[in-house]
Parts: sequence; C-alpha cells; structure tokens
Amino acid sequence: NMTVNKICCIGAGYVGGPSCAVIAHKCPNLQVTVVDQSAERIAQWNSDKLPIFEPQLDEVVKACRGHNLFFSTDVEKGIRDAELIFICVNTPTKTFGWGKGRAADLKYIESAARRIAEVAQNSKIVVEKSTVPVKAAESIANILSANVKPGVKYQVLSNPEFLAEGTAIADLLNPDRVLIGGDQSIEGLEAMEALCWVYRHWVPSGNIITMNTWSSELSKLAANAFLAQRISSINAMSAICECTGADVDEVAHAIGTDSRIGPKFLKASVGFGGSCFQKDVLNMVYLCECLNLPEVAAYWQQVIAINDYQRMRFTKRIVESLFNTVTNKRIAILGFAFKKDTGDTRESAAIYVSKYLLEEGAHIRIYDPKVPEDQIINDLTCVEVTDQPEKVKQLVSICPDPYLAAEGSHALVICTEWDEFQSLDYQRIYNKMLKPAFIFDGRLILNHQKLMDLGFKVETIGKRLSRDQTKVVRTFANGTP
Ligand code: NAD
Ligand code: UDX
Repeated sequence: NMTVNKICCIGAGYVGGPSCAVIAHKCPNLQVTVVDQSAERIAQWNSDKLPIFEPQLDEVVKACRGHNLFFSTDVEKGIRDAELIFICVNTPTKTFGWGKGRAADLKYIESAARRIAEVAQNSKIVVEKSTVPVKAAESIANILSANVKPGVKYQVLSNPEFLAEGTAIADLLNPDRVLIGGDQSIEGLEAMEALCWVYRHWVPSGNIITMNTWSSELSKLAANAFLAQRISSINAMSAICECTGADVDEVAHAIGTDSRIGPKFLKASVGFGGSCFQKDVLNMVYLCECLNLPEVAAYWQQVIAINDYQRMRFTKRIVESLFNTVTNKRIAILGFAFKKDTGDTRESAAIYVSKYLLEEGAHIRIYDPKVPEDQIINDLTCVEVTDQPEKVKQLVSICPDPYLAAEGSHALVICTEWDEFQSLDYQRIYNKMLKPAFIFDGRLILNHQKLMDLGFKVETIGKRLSRDQTKVVRTFANGTP
C-alpha cells in the first residue's frame, strides 16, 4: 500500500500554485512543496504580492504558507522528498518544426520527467496535471523506466485540471468532478487509490471519477473542445442575429432553457481567449491529423476559424461605424484581460482588437483594472502581433482609469466583462468624448438603451440597436470578412 505524506508540484503557475494551495489547505496532514525553475516566480509566491491575481487565493496561501505549503526553487529536493509528484508545467502550442502552430510542445513535460528520473531515490507516483495530447503519460512512463534506478518504481497517472481562471479557488474547493486516469494493473489501481485519498479530504467520493489513462487524457481535450465549441456556436448565431434583427441574448435564453442544452457558457462575445481553448482545440486537431482523421480535424478547426472571424468582424464593425477610417483617431479600450477577475492576458481578444486597430493607425488608450502596464506593452510588441514595435510606443497609451482613457476619444470599446464597467459614470464619459461618441460593447454587459438616451451611438454583438445604425450593420454583414 502506498502512503502519501509529502507532495511535490513541478510548475508554480496558474494551475500548480492555486491547486496545491487548496490541497495544502484541505490536507493539513500533508506537506506540499511547489517548485519552479523560475526564481522570480518562486520569490513572488513567497512574497506579499503573489504572481497571479485570483479571488480568495491570498487568503488560502497565507493560511498554509510556511506551515504545510512551501514554494521553492530546489526542484531536486522537492522531487527527492515526495511520494507523489504533480507535473504542472506549461504545454504551449509549438512555434516551430513539425506540428508548428498546432501541436503541444512537450519539452517542459519531458524535462520534468527526466529530472524526476535523475534524482528519485525511491518509488514515486507521478501525476500528469498539465493538459497533454493522448498518450503523453505513456511517454513519461517510457522516459522514467528507461532511466530507472534499482529498487525504484514509478506509476504514472493522468489527473487533468478543470479550474477556470477568475474562479480557480471556488472551482478547486467545489469541483464538478475530479478525474483520475491510470493503468488498470494492481499497482496502477493502488496509485489511483492514493491520489483519490488525497482528494477525498474534501471532495465527495461520488465526484471522483477513475478510468483508463487514455480516456482521462482525451476527456480533458474533449471538455475544452466542447466548451469552446459552444462559444463559437453562439458567436456564429450572433452574426445571423445582426443580419436579421434577432437578439442573441434572447436566442441564448430560449435555447438554454432546454435542459439538454443548459444555460451556461452561451454568452456571445468578441471571441474566447485564455491560454487553454485555442491551444487545446489545435492540439486535438493535430492529434486527428496524425491519426489520419482529416474530417474530424476539419470539424474542430472550424471552432477556431469562427473565433478568429468573430474578433475580426467586431473590429471591422468599429472601423466601418467610425466612417471607415480610424487613422489618427483616439479609441479607448476598456479591459485587456481575457476575462474578468484575472490579470491574465494570454490569447485575450483585446490583443487582437488592438492589433487590428493599430494596423489601421488608430491611437489606442487602454484601461484594465488588473493587468500591469508593462504586460500590455509586451503583449502588443511581441512578434506575433506587430512587425513595427516602434508603432506601439507611438500609438498606445495605458491609462490608470477609464475616464482618462475616454478623454478625447471617438469611441469606447469594451473587451473584457469586468463588473466595474457596468457602473461607470457614462454621462461623465460622454462629456469627455468627441462627438458622435461611439460605444462598442464586445461583451453585451452594458445598458444599451440608457447609453443611447445619453446620446451615445451604441453597437454590440448579436443585436441591432437602432434604425439608423441598421445600415451600418447591413453594409458590414454583406461585406466579405
Ligand atoms: P504557467 O506557464 O502559468 O506555469 C508553468 C510553470 O512551469 C512556469 O512557472 C514554468 O517556469 C514552470 N516550469 C516549466 N518547466 C519546468 C521544469 N522543467 N521544472 C520546473 N518548473 C518548470 O502554466 P499554467 O497556466 O499553470 O498551465 C500549466 C498546465 O496546466 C498547462 O498544460 C495548461 O494547459 C494546463 N491547464 C491550465 C489551466 C489554466 O487555466 N491556466 C487550466 C487547466 C489546465
Ligand atoms: C477554460 C475552461 O473553462 C477550464 O475548465 C479549463 O480548465 C481551462 O480553460 P479559462 O480559459 O480559464 O478556463 O476560462 P473560461 O471561463 O472557460 O473562459 C474562456 C474564454 O471564453 C474567456 O475569454 C471568456 O470570456 C470566454 N467566454 C466564456 C465567452 O465568450 N462566453 C461564455 O459564455 C463563456
């Protein structure tokens, strides 16, 4: 029987940090050490200002840090001491070589596995928590067994993480399910039982699902693909709504009351962002291609195509409404994070909207309540976004509040659904803006009638707001994307 006293987590990122903080919080009898090769990240985890913003995270970390939760750069000691090791390293989309732009880059996973093989002096349960292509656990097992020391045994489990950013702690404390995949041998089942035991400290047994490793790995990709597909489906509807006079929120409500469809995750938007959806759908597309399933690959690829189309469509609408030119016009962007309640900007729709507007020569003034200035500038200056970094310096300014961003602007563009944007003083904003003053609500969060009563010209996703704006919408809808 395997007993677990010490847990090590390799990777102190958005997943490793919060998930291990919750394990430590709920399992006072266990010692949890989160290790990372980035000394800067570890120093931040050990400081008063944690490297990521997540509601309730500060409280949970402060309650356990220094007691049974530790953050360290000593990867070797972390591995050596633990009976159970989570691998929570990043698995970004490959930017070079075979599968470039689609396949997951597994170099960090492999280096973590090799590190474990190098330093382990006794048997370990190795848990793959990062999102990986199907059969990655087998590769980890192969690397471990090819480098195994006498007397050491490994069991590799798959335990994908389903937390969403902005609600990570709530999701971890009360998960819909915990998924554990493993080898169906006696040793495999024992290892699965040891991990189940950890989760049973706070998760009801009925919510802990076990299955074979490959099903578990594929289920993670499948869940993200289904979720992303729902957003692309409602966004595709939003385009039809704009052409017909239907209202996408009403359509979402109508279909969401069908218990087979359900009401969640049907909010039309400027497009999904975040580090996971695009990466994981592309990862599956690549997997399908490798498995010689081109029809299946094309089906899922379309989820990404609609998302690209939605961001582009929304930005074109901005330009067309502003009399077909935004060159040298000031445009305020409210929200830069990929969703509310996070400071994360990975794949944020705001980056794409900014990119297209910069290419048209607009001056953009950005406000976000949580994203630091240097991060916004970095995101806009990176090679995927611009080939003219000096343009970013000239054309972008970051504002400490939304009213400053609006000052002297032709248009206000909502890119993130931060709650605070609903309660701004829009009369004050209207007074500071050039006329006609436009608002483009990319998240369907504002009271559009009220804004129109104040004098704003309002455009949003998936509905026509007034007669004189219909023409603009029509022109756009008939144009080629
Ligand atoms: P991240 O980039 O925030 O964190 C990864 C960390 O791993 C980094 O701090 C990096 O320095 C460290 N690292 C990489 N290689 C290492 C090594 N060999 N040794 C020590 N440290 C190493 O990534 P993340 O957002 O936490 O995502 C991690 C994984 O979890 C990914 O596979 C992702 O797809 C998956 N996931 C993410 C989310 C999410 O919401 N972010 C949700 C579910 C699953
Ligand atoms: C997602 C999955 O939800 C989570 O289970 C997985 O572990 C990681 O990937 P995350 O990317 O953190 O989580 O956030 P999520 O809430 O899924 O939002 C992703 C994007 O979709 C955001 O840009 C969000 O604004 C957008 N979205 C979400 C919509 O546009 N409409 C919706 O109805 C829901």
